[in-house]
Amino acid sequence: MHIDRKFPTSRLRRLRANNTLINLVSESSLSSNDLIQPLFIKENLKGTEKIDSMPGVLRYSKESVLDEVDDLLENNINTIALFPAIDSSKKDSNGNEALNKSNLICESIQKIKTKFPEMLIIADVALDPYTDHGHDGILKGNYVDNDLTLDVLKAQSLILAESGADILAPSDMMDGRIGIIREALETADYKNTILLSYAAKYNSKFYGPFRDAVKSASNLGKSSKSSYQMSPTNKDEAIHEVAIDINEGADIVMVKPGMPYLDIISLIKNTFKVPTFAYQVSGEYSMLKLAINKGWLDSDVMIESLTSFKRAGADAILTYAAKEISREINTK
Ligand code: PBG
Repeated sequence: MHIDRKFPTSRLRRLRANNTLINLVSESSLSSNDLIQPLFIKENLKGTEKIDSMPGVLRYSKESVLDEVDDLLENNINTIALFPAIDSSKKDSNGNEALNKSNLICESIQKIKTKFPEMLIIADVALDPYTDHGHDGILKGNYVDNDLTLDVLKAQSLILAESGADILAPSDMMDGRIGIIREALETADYKNTILLSYAAKYNSKFYGPFRDAVKSASNLGKSSKSSYQMSPTNKDEAIHEVAIDINEGADIVMVKPGMPYLDIISLIKNTFKVPTFAYQVSGEYSMLKLAINKGWLDSDVMIESLTSFKRAGADAILTYAAKEISREINTK
């Protein structure tokens, strides 16, 4: 494409003269419908508790999360992603608690769905909140065994679907898990359970605060997830991962983290034209929030960051700032 008009025929500043014009020609926008709120639920907690490494983010008890869900709906947030922080005494090497039908997350899903059936619930499929080594799967020696893990993820998926989760989100990066889970769901007649695959999930240090939040950081210690999460150096591999997951039955694919991986979001959306989500992960959120709280950055950087996801092609965004940003965009 070649544009021949030159200055002063072309003055790009004409369309920037005021906010009405700027909004009129804006190419992407952020709405409450694009925002998904992750929530941390903790066992044996009264009320709520702060998370040191995530300013403004709380852990909720099974009971207090109900008030928060109510408040989210009031603020036009209609989708949540739940993550459990279970008692360390319940963690073991195989993550058995993940398969307990009345565990924290299953009970919470049931409670929320009973009281607020209109709230869409995304449930994470992975073992890291449940294992005493903090890995997403079953270890054989020091290596996470892919196929042993698949059996457990399949069972975990079925109990989450049975509890009432609308969307299952495998975040474990095992090979073949979308196909196995999809087949299990079809067989068990959960034909409309949606699979949101964390398809291009990178081995990122930006997950640090999340591991604090679900209390898996000390379990994982210095061990790395590099044998299953993607290397930050790779882009073609993201296409390969996403293609496989779509073929295996994913309804939505996700790129994670977000802002350092905007090129990947754009590439995936343009290549596959399927619903593509992005995750503004804990480290991204905390960096921005801390600088905002310190007065070093204006609070609008949060909207700017989330808008960049939309511009890159994300259809929806998981962000810890979902509620506050939704409130902000609806009152502006
Ligand atoms: C675990 C999981 C992680 C996140 C979501 N699910 C962490 C990890 O892979 O270690 C990270 C989210 C965030 O950092 O906000 N399966």
